[in-house]
Amino acid sequence: MQDCLGVKQSGLNKCAIQGLHECTTEGLYIRTGVTQVPSSEQTKLEPSVKTERKTVKERKVYSPDSLPYQLSELLLQKILEHLPGYKKPDINKWALHMDALMRLDKRPPEEVKAVILFAQRDPFWRANILSVDKLRKQYDQFNSRRLQMRASPAYQKRQLENMSGEEADEYKDFSSEENRFRAVWASCGIPPRLVHASFTNYKPACPEKEMALHKCQAFVQKGLDLIKQGNGLFFQGPVGTGKSHLAVASLRAILENNIDSFGTPSSDNQICGEPVYDGLCCSMISVVDLLSTLRESINIDNSRVPARRILHRARTDAIVILDDIGAEKPSEWVEEQLYGLIDLRYRMQRSTFFTTNCTLKQLESQIGSRIVSRIFEMCEGVKVSGQDWGKNV
Ligand SMILES: Nc1ncnc2c1ncn2[C@@H]1O[C@H](COP(=O)(O)OP(=O)(O)OP(=O)(O)O)[C@@H](O)[C@H]1O
Ligand SMILES: [Mg+2]
Repeated sequence: MQDCLGVKQSGLNKCAIQGLHECTTEGLYIRTGVTQVPSSEQTKLEPSVKTERKTVKERKVYSPDSLPYQLSELLLQKILEHLPGYKKPDINKWALHMDALMRLDKRPPEEVKAVILFAQRDPFWRANILSVDKLRKQYDQFNSRRLQMRASPAYQKRQLENMSGEEADEYKDFSSEENRFRAVWASCGIPPRLVHASFTNYKPACPEKEMALHKCQAFVQKGLDLIKQGNGLFFQGPVGTGKSHLAVASLRAILENNIDSFGTPSSDNQICGEPVYDGLCCSMISVVDLLSTLRESINIDNSRVPARRILHRARTDAIVILDDIGAEKPSEWVEEQLYGLIDLRYRMQRSTFFTTNCTLKQLESQIGSRIVSRIFEMCEGVKVSGQDWGKNV
């Protein structure tokens, strides 16, 4: 029987297809330990006799036909294939987490299924998902790895050799350009809130925002040569006006227009042991996060490696979005770190997009006039004013 997610062995049935949304949100409520005296009987009782009421405790119970339940069973079935002695969990509890993964975290069921199959197929990753709770916590990590792996032609070939029809489709249904874009985008470190930001979903609610959008589009239209000469964009404006959105949207458009020139860092592909795509790399880094990672790495030896890796990408990636510069607490150390980074990118002609809430004067006092002077030489200014998007009604 063909099920809603197209997986025969999962045993997902037709009810789950038809009631995809109803099933995920609807749970059966059963009452445990309810002792409530009916009102008709109550009137017959002597006034001195107290009615006893136990606390009503409700537990959400998922039908075996519901999608959360079936996806939980799929995970269990896959775990049992490589770990036959695995102790049977409380599937209803798993379904509860699965429901939250889909409803609250907004993960599409087809993608959840793909992540489960991916993680359980891989000998390294499957040891990391032995419960739905764990799957939910590390979902982004697994999904991003899955997309990268899926984009690797060598990995696809290896997987396809060991797969039957419907599972194999998971690896076949993307054109190579789309594969490449997905892999590169996944490696950029765009935070989930902005990962879908594009020119198309930017709504310029006032002439200033319209102007900002046009400036970004014109910059992108000028092509990759401008980027290769180290030109970038400097987004300035009040909180919530869409500066980071426009920076991400500009990066997306540049990648979409020139995807053949972009690639993924080879260190991201250690599991496969082979490079996925060669080409220019890009990343988005919060300046506050970068500085605090660096600060921690001075005191704790173990955190040196990730700090070095982030700093390496901040220094060498062909396009870097340095988000929220000027939000950090000023100090001589901060100024020194930022100068070192920005001056290197300036000298090496590496394109940088900055976003900030600070005015020019504030920025000079926050990070120093030498850095600001470099930024102005490297970037085209984009003023993003108007209303805070979060306050739109
Ligand atoms: N004009 C817009 N159209 C559509 N979405 C918008 C627009 N402006 C902002 N958003 C959305 O609002 C949220 C906040 O926007 P963003 O982070 O880009 O603001 P910001 O100017 O960088 O704010 P901050 O100064 O706090 O960093 C994001 O989810 C973004 O996608
Ligand atoms: Mg921002």
